Amino acid sequence: MMGNLINEDDLRSFLKYKNIDIKLFESLESTNKTAKEMAESGANEGLLIVAEHQSNGRGRLGRSFYSPQGTGLYFTLVLRPDFSADDCCLITPAAAVAVSKAVKNVLGLETQIKWVNDIFYSGKKVCGILCESKLSANENKMDYVVLGIGINLYTPKNEFPDEIKNIAGALTNKIEVDFASKLLAEIINEFLFLYENITDVSFLTEYNQRLMLKGKEVDYLEKGIKKTGKIIDTDERFRLRIETADGGIKKLSSGEITIGSHKAIK
Ligand code: BTN
Repeated sequence: MMGNLINEDDLRSFLKYKNIDIKLFESLESTNKTAKEMAESGANEGLLIVAEHQSNGRGRLGRSFYSPQGTGLYFTLVLRPDFSADDCCLITPAAAVAVSKAVKNVLGLETQIKWVNDIFYSGKKVCGILCESKLSANENKMDYVVLGIGINLYTPKNEFPDEIKNIAGALTNKIEVDFASKLLAEIINEFLFLYENITDVSFLTEYNQRLMLKGKEVDYLEKGIKKTGKIIDTDERFRLRIETADGGIKKLSSGEITIGSHKAIK
């Protein structure tokens, strides 16, 4: 097994926001799970749960997130948004932009965002984001949101498992350079900067600049009927805008589109 990647003192020194409460673990089932438990017990905004390894890392749509020790970053930030629950759809796109910017700042690499919130590098998925939240009992607000981010820094020694090896990739293989703590801190710095004024959606342009598959033909379902259109960009609520065959614009807020016979976006 490779050594630990995160140095808590380094992480703290790179963080611009000093009110982050870091809890670093050797191994957890899932940093999102622990963050939710701690949020339920009253943890404040700014609690950052980091694990060197996850035994049951969670992905979107009930999938798992492969989280071996020594090759990736797995962390979750607890948020207590004071804006309306309707605006919580902005958190994952803001996080996607923050990850892309941090990767650029720290490693000089250009990444792309696959709608809604996967980060790709060199055609392979290197990062996934999973937000989980609890609605507050009596207002249109969130009691808490946990923002979970997983990043493949290096290719695991025994490669990625068969189920994901065609899609999963890593940011680099220069393992002699220790940048993990710096990258994690930079992601938090970039995210919290956007989060301060998140409802302005000032990061929309940056999101769209990095949007993958722009101009590509995709299939989508409308009332059960398969249609074809071309990806334009996303709007300010991060709905995917598609140019339809008759020149109109269709907005997709969730669901699935496909390119040819391949599942392209979920
Ligand atoms: C996806 O690609 O579907 C989202 C993956 C999110 C993975 C991260 S790793 C840290 C945090 N804890 C989890 O259990 N999941 C998220």
